[in-house]
Amino acid sequence: MKVLYVASEVVPFSQSGGLADVAGSLPKAIRDRAVSCRVVSPLYGSVPQSLRETMKFIGHIEVQLAWRRQYCGVFSCNLGGVVHYFIDNEYYFARDGLYGHFDDGERFAFFSKAVLAILPLIDYFPDIIHLNDWQTALVPLYLKAYYQGDERYRRIRTVFTIHNILYQGRYGFAILGDVFDLPDSFAEVVSYDGCINLMKGAIQCADRVTTVSPTYAQEILDPWYADGLDRYLRTCQWKLSGILNGLDTKSYDPAADPVIAHPYTAETLEGKALDKQALRQDLGLTESNEPIVALVTRLVAHKGLDLVKYIFNDMMRLGIQLVVLGSGDSAFEDFFYSMQQIYPNTVRAILGFVPEMARKIYAGADIFLMPSKTEPCGLSQMIAMRYGTIPIVRETGGLKDTVLDAGDPSGEGDGYTFKTYNAHDMLGALDRAVGAYHLPEVWQGLQKRAMTKDFSWGRSAAQYIELYKGLLEA
Ligand code: GLC
Repeated sequence: MKVLYVASEVVPFSQSGGLADVAGSLPKAIRDRAVSCRVVSPLYGSVPQSLRETMKFIGHIEVQLAWRRQYCGVFSCNLGGVVHYFIDNEYYFARDGLYGHFDDGERFAFFSKAVLAILPLIDYFPDIIHLNDWQTALVPLYLKAYYQGDERYRRIRTVFTIHNILYQGRYGFAILGDVFDLPDSFAEVVSYDGCINLMKGAIQCADRVTTVSPTYAQEILDPWYADGLDRYLRTCQWKLSGILNGLDTKSYDPAADPVIAHPYTAETLEGKALDKQALRQDLGLTESNEPIVALVTRLVAHKGLDLVKYIFNDMMRLGIQLVVLGSGDSAFEDFFYSMQQIYPNTVRAILGFVPEMARKIYAGADIFLMPSKTEPCGLSQMIAMRYGTIPIVRETGGLKDTVLDAGDPSGEGDGYTFKTYNAHDMLGALDRAVGAYHLPEVWQGLQKRAMTKDFSWGRSAAQYIELYKGLLEA
């Protein structure tokens, strides 16, 4: 079986969010199970020079997008045993930032067309093309519109994964032919609520649709979560399933993380206590017996920060120190910055994306707060658990599927959860966590269970391979 994995961002070449982590890890885990899996992504201007030097030029073709004929170079490299291809066109991809340009629709239509057009050049005709998010949503449509006459393409089956349903790729109908290069007969396929909706088109044309946790797969059938797409998803629920993401357990390993001063395992938690001390010194927080609560997140509303804002003083009254790392909406940046002025000894706001500091916080903090309004899967709660930092999460999406409340009758709990999107419910969960923190035996039990939970990619990769196999047998 041959799989081509297509994503608009892939670690370590490009990244704006969690999709890149998945695209950087899952193909390797699939390959480790003896299934061929190669990856295609755009060659952005921001790909580090050191990685460019590992690439070789395969050749170039011309890609037609309506009346345009665009240069499409193809580079490739082998990273950890996985072959990566890169679509090169400087006009589209040598720009600042991955997304947010006026012509993103055209840029990713070009990318999607190129993915199919390069197959003869790279001499790799996959059995499965695995697409991710709206940027690649046109691939199943182009396959149906332009390639059904070619046996090598007709056999290809497609899987479309939704990493976040809030980004659907909505456009006006004026550009159906002129930019998206779709024949009029496809107008109905992409049409949704009066405009072009690329994600809807992919859901209709892909053979299977997945999302990144079982709970999110249920949630997006509900209007509260799906931003309008629930109505359509309910009609094709049979092809929808949820497969939980894994974590790169090699990179995120407190016993071997080069960034943290005192490595540790579930058996040697003394190291974590030293990392906590180091973090306090680094950040100038006062010595005390209070737990450090951490937020490492993009500072945007759907991460649940309005709950934190609403209840901030009550949280601090529970006897905690708080560290925030992240950037985003200026309203949240300003808020956390001003809280640092009000609580100079116990609150630190680091406003930026500082990967090394993130790791020091995962290692040095005691409690990790992630009260998201919606969270398709979420990665940070898994990293925190791996580092023995107990998560407090709202029961949504992947958060619900990865954290089990300490009060669970099974005695297997490894974190604290709350159900409704309500600030006082979050406060209640934090109160329980702070209480348990002061009972060392209880706390260490939680830490050990969290640290040894299986978040490796193997389990997910096996489920994707089953899904692919099912499609080929069908
Ligand atoms: C998106 C989701 C996040 C998920 C990630 C990877 O960024 O918001 O919850 O973990 O994709 O699938």
